Amino acid sequence: MSEQVQKPKILVARAIFPDILTRLEQLADVQSNQEDHLWNAEDLKAAMANKDAAIVTGGERVDADILKASPQLKIVSNIAVGYNNFDMAAFSAANVMATNTPDVLTDTTADFGFALLMATARRVTESEHWLRAGNWKKFSIYDTPLSMDIHHSTLGIMGMGRIGQAIARRARGFNMNVKYYNRSRLSADLEKECGATYVDRDTLLKESDHIILVMPYTPENHHLFGEKELNMMKPTATLVNIARGGIVDELALAKALQANKIFAAGIDVFEGEPTVRPELLALKNVVLAPHIASATEKTRRAMIELAIENCLAGLAGKTPPNLLKA
Ligand code: DGY
Repeated sequence: MSEQVQKPKILVARAIFPDILTRLEQLADVQSNQEDHLWNAEDLKAAMANKDAAIVTGGERVDADILKASPQLKIVSNIAVGYNNFDMAAFSAANVMATNTPDVLTDTTADFGFALLMATARRVTESEHWLRAGNWKKFSIYDTPLSMDIHHSTLGIMGMGRIGQAIARRARGFNMNVKYYNRSRLSADLEKECGATYVDRDTLLKESDHIILVMPYTPENHHLFGEKELNMMKPTATLVNIARGGIVDELALAKALQANKIFAAGIDVFEGEPTVRPELLALKNVVLAPHIASATEKTRRAMIELAIENCLAGLAGKTPPNLLKA
């Protein structure tokens, strides 16, 4: 008599495309969340407790408490490139693998970073609100929302990983002067290919017409952009954040925008998301987006497929393609 092979138990913590879920259900015993409800820590802990693997998003924090309560768990697969929602020391201590989804979202995220930069500097959403409010009475030379140029301006990229590099490549098409700051300098060949010059952080803050944040969020760069840094920027400069909300002190940013210490900001990520501070919502010179830099259907599908590939590899005793190091 042949023994029945037990399917692995997988938690898919958030709603995913139904066709992908159906395929996964053929391979695993899946607890899904197609209602897409947000988990509190206790509910997530309870759901993960009897699982061999979990597929989560950046919205689910996986820490020592959850890992300790999940003795069977082998792998947690993030549907995101950022993994600040993982306590990596706890993963190591618990001997649980952690993975993310790099590469598949690089170009889509860089496209959006550029879109947000352009919308912010060229006051696209503000102009639309102005028009919808009935303010457009005639063509006017300057009685219309005037904005800042992108072409031939200086772009400062903070964080020169894959996405930062992809943004630099796009900036070349706009004849921008690209400077970057990163923990480690790129090779001379890569700098040349990206058309980017390495500068120290203060130089980047002082000399950029537009600054875009693309670095990972770590405890070291929590509120890295505060009053002091914002004061160092040009009053005509824009700040775009597609990294993580916690990198910017949002209250300091709101004050700087209100006092016109900088020209405008474009924000896709928020410290308390999905809650957005009223101080930011009240401002005109800010473009706000609901964490959508990677949100095209093609890319979101690719992210989920890769997260599943990582998860199944780990469960099969193989090294997942995107295994994270503590
Ligand atoms: C990422 O992949 O890190 C995006 O921010 C989506 O969470």
